[in-house]
Amino acid sequence: MNFEIQKRALSRVIRDDLDALIVFCPQNTEQAPDAQDPLSLVLRQALAKGDLTPKAGSVLSLYGLAGVKSRHVVLVSTEDQTCAHIRTAVVAAWAALKAAKPKHLGMHTVGEWTAQRLQTAASALADGSYSYTATLSKPQHRTLQQVTFSAADVAAEHRAAMVQTQAVVSGVELAKEWANRPANHATPTHLAEAAKAIAKGRSFKCDILGPKEVAKLGMGSFLAVAQGAAEPLRFIVMRYSGTSSAQAPVVLVGKGITFDTGGISMKPAPEMDEMKYDMSGAASVLGVFKALGQLRPAINVVGLIPATENMPDGMAVKPGDVVTSMSGQTIEILNTDAEGRLVLCDALTYAERFKPQAVIDIATLTGACVIALGGVRSGLFTSDEALAQHLQQAGESSGDLCWRMPMDEAYAEGLKTRFADVANVAGRAAGSVTAAKFLQRFAQKYPWAHLDIAGTAWKSGAAKGATGRPVGLLLHYLLAKASLPVSSRRRA
Ligand code: BES
Ligand code: MN
Ligand code: ZN
Repeated sequence: MNFEIQKRALSRVIRDDLDALIVFCPQNTEQAPDAQDPLSLVLRQALAKGDLTPKAGSVLSLYGLAGVKSRHVVLVSTEDQTCAHIRTAVVAAWAALKAAKPKHLGMHTVGEWTAQRLQTAASALADGSYSYTATLSKPQHRTLQQVTFSAADVAAEHRAAMVQTQAVVSGVELAKEWANRPANHATPTHLAEAAKAIAKGRSFKCDILGPKEVAKLGMGSFLAVAQGAAEPLRFIVMRYSGTSSAQAPVVLVGKGITFDTGGISMKPAPEMDEMKYDMSGAASVLGVFKALGQLRPAINVVGLIPATENMPDGMAVKPGDVVTSMSGQTIEILNTDAEGRLVLCDALTYAERFKPQAVIDIATLTGACVIALGGVRSGLFTSDEALAQHLQQAGESSGDLCWRMPMDEAYAEGLKTRFADVANVAGRAAGSVTAAKFLQRFAQKYPWAHLDIAGTAWKSGAAKGATGRPVGLLLHYLLAKASLPVSSRRRA
């Protein structure tokens, strides 16, 4: 899907060759254009007669209006034009239009575009028109191909926002696509191939490590999770260089459990299929790299993905087993279903070699985070104030929200054990925080943050599907960094 933006009055847009046109309308006639073209007249009348209410998402569908080239026109209210209302408006307008299967859609605002509004509208549209295709024998491919945004006034910053939005949307869609794939179509080997494909021609470096190399590195914790799986593990290392190699990189670590049965501490059957989404963190890293390749910002980024299935088997790791992580710390695996932290801890140790300015791990880590924050905000865990602030800001500006959780040392109490340096689980209380405290032990050598996306990476029920989060948040964080002068980029 392609996005563009053009400077055009509504009276001019009606002559454009579009299959459908959505017009974001103002709340009253005073704010409406006073032109005499047929669409402006209808718009003013609809507002004056109260046939288009000012409530966000209120729609009026028009068809075959004389003097308007686009057969389908949907007038929609955006209320005060906040991002939440823009989203509501796009969802409502698209619901009225999607049956018409437009190929080329116009999206005109009578008000003003801002970078944030453009991104919100484009993302909502991409979301609404996305359809999963990978494993269908007769896939319904998206018909919408071109979206032309317009307004009477369009500046250079809007064009720049459009370019950025295009990349964010393609990153989000790649993340969705991979997260949605069933586990037999998204094995660790498949993920590694996807990483290679993204790197190809984009001058990324991409190294794929297998069981032998991982054993040689001493990743005893990662290996313990993988030892029950017949599918071989992969450790994916992607490197994007957008600036001098003297500049310390940001490292992104994505949990890549391609299926989480729980292992010997097996999960109950209901909804277990959703554990195909347990590689959503990995998918978000792939999505970010796809977008970096398009935008080529002046920043260095490393992506690390420890990928494996978590399976029960004669060879599988058992509750009570003690393993030695790459850091040298021994871990008592009391629950084999707390496997995410076991693969991530070795990746966090591996990250040290890049002397990173910051490391962010992204993981569908705990059911407890779903209970705490639901599907609205991802959990943000860090002791680094600057990093916390930057990630929260990126969440707000992208609309891909997060919420900071506590990291008091007292939460680590339950991880103590007589039989190893640390246990992989504490009690049920504050489960998302104790998981973060476990990871923190392995992230002492750089500023570090952890995003628990267990609640935000996918939707359950009738709307089951990946969301592509937190690709938007991560890209906003990285792009904000790239636009800072080099001197202030040193820390977080
Ligand atoms: N992948 C799950 C977390 C999860 C569960 C995400 C449900 C989304 C929905 C993770 O590997 C896991 O099983 N965590 C356990 C940890 C527990 C054993 C301490 C959990 O949350 O139950
Ligand atoms: Mn698990
Ligand atoms: Zn898991």
